[in-house]
Amino acid sequence: MKKVFAGCALGLFAVGAGADEITYREHIRPLWLDRCERCHGSDAPYLGDFEEDRKRYEADDKGPRMDTYADLAFFASWPDTGALMRRLDDGSNTANGKPGNMYRELGRSEEERQANLKLFKRWVGKKAWTMKRPAEISKEELLRFKLAY
Ligand code: HEC
Repeated sequence: MKKVFAGCALGLFAVGAGADEITYREHIRPLWLDRCERCHGSDAPYLGDFEEDRKRYEADDKGPRMDTYADLAFFASWPDTGALMRRLDDGSNTANGKPGNMYRELGRSEEERQANLKLFKRWVGKKAWTMKRPAEISKEELLRFKLAY
């Protein structure tokens, strides 16, 4: 009986603590599968290979591969700092006020795009949502990334 209670308490705590946390496994992975996988999946090249033969891959609608937690985080925090945010931003934070070129991939309607952008923002961390590149970002800013698994 004691054991059962301990298990319940733990379960409740986990649900409570995670209630408003956006995680890769629960929120981002399904969204990514729905909206990004067909061009960035396991049949797409890693960024290094992509860059060596960009034209060919682009003609084939393939962008750099980001089909795991680590490969997606690569484009948010390090080493390709800010790439995910520069591409997904709706224009509110970009230098020219225009949406990043992957923003349109976020949904079939403006409503869906905004809802999915919100999820990505909360996953990266509201304070971590930056357009900055690796050479521009400070250690303090890097430490703001959430990117919960
Ligand atoms: C129809 C195919 C397609 C879909 C769907 C798509 N992308 Fe892309 N993506 C590309 C291509 C091709 C490139 C490379 C060309 C470019 O830089 O714009 C790219 C580039 C990117 C980059 C820049 C990577 C770098 O070079 O640093 C990011 C980040 C990105 N996509 C994220 C996403 C996310 C997140 C989604 C889902 C919401 C998504 N893309 C959906 C085709 C796609």
